[in-house]
Amino acid sequence: MRAPSSVPMPLTSSAPSTEAMDTITALAGPGLGDVERVIRECARVPDVPALEQVLLDVLTSPAKRLRPALALLVAQVVGGHHEAVVNLAAATEILHSATLVHDDIVDGAAERRGQPALHVTWSQKIAVLAGDYLFATSADLVARLDRPAIVRLFSATIHDMARSEFVTPEFDDDGDIAHRQYLQKIGHKTASLFAHTCEAVAVLADAPAEEREALRGLGWGVGMAFQITDDILDIRGAMVETGKPVGTDLRAGVLTLPVILYLGNDPSDGELVQDVLSGKSTDELAVARALDAINASGAVDEAAEVARGHANGARAALSVVRAVPARDSIEAFVQHTADRTR
Ligand code: IPE
Ligand code: IPE
Ligand code: MG
Ligand code: MG
Repeated sequence: MRAPSSVPMPLTSSAPSTEAMDTITALAGPGLGDVERVIRECARVPDVPALEQVLLDVLTSPAKRLRPALALLVAQVVGGHHEAVVNLAAATEILHSATLVHDDIVDGAAERRGQPALHVTWSQKIAVLAGDYLFATSADLVARLDRPAIVRLFSATIHDMARSEFVTPEFDDDGDIAHRQYLQKIGHKTASLFAHTCEAVAVLADAPAEEREALRGLGWGVGMAFQITDDILDIRGAMVETGKPVGTDLRAGVLTLPVILYLGNDPSDGELVQDVLSGKSTDELAVARALDAINASGAVDEAAEVARGHANGARAALSVVRAVPARDSIEAFVQHTADRTR
């Protein structure tokens, strides 16, 4: 990869806007523009135009940039050299992008960010290779920080994410085991990156151990709440907001928290939902009826309550870090992750 420089590139990526997102972006400050420039620079491979085109496709699609926003907010609390924080924030976003490119192959998902997934636009082979390239790009940005402890945090996240794909919660009698397995899985696949990113910013700023641990807890709580909300949006959301078709997890047989909680209450439509999950019922009417049944139950609210619990855990962790105004911005970020609609 060529060295990221400050070459200005047009900022064309624009995720659909919501008031809460605009607030988060404003709170994260102008650093997000710097992160965007580093990301665009990482997409430049002029000697391999075919690769550059694919990378631009991934890196300029309308993403929310939540992980870099959180990294910048944490840096507002603990400090840290601006350029290093920006590179770290870009590294976390590029790692996230790499995992999504591969995730859509693993999940057989056809759409991402309101557009065809990379493996659909190009091919599975191209998407695997582009994902690999992005993993290496992220690693390179991290290596430039010259902090082995941060390299280890990123490696731990990548291990966690890969490990999570080997855990498949399966429904048991009352759903207790599935619930536990689900929490373990989302911890590894989603919360780990948020947690290690926040911790890495603390390491970069040489923050005291207590603060480093608290910030890891903040990221963990945010990540857990974020993934549970993503899983709720698969049941209750709208594609126009999320950029992903509703019911994707259900059709793919992926057991998520709202579904585990729904089935755990031994509902009258349980068999219908089980049939969609197992692939026995594939027609869209059955999927729509299954979604309606889950939505009409209290399961989505119960899952939202679990998400709020994790958001509260994030808040508790945040209370340990130094009381500066940026803490309120992070508080707004935490609020957004549990309440979001996309
Ligand atoms: C999607 O993450 C994957 C999950 C962890 C649920 P985001 O919702 O942050 O994806 P983008 O980057 O904004 O598209
Ligand atoms: C999160 O899981 C994906 C990663 C953390 C790699 P999901 O499978 O729920 O994410 P979406 O719904 O495809 O964005
Ligand atoms: Mg997926
Ligand atoms: Mg999802």
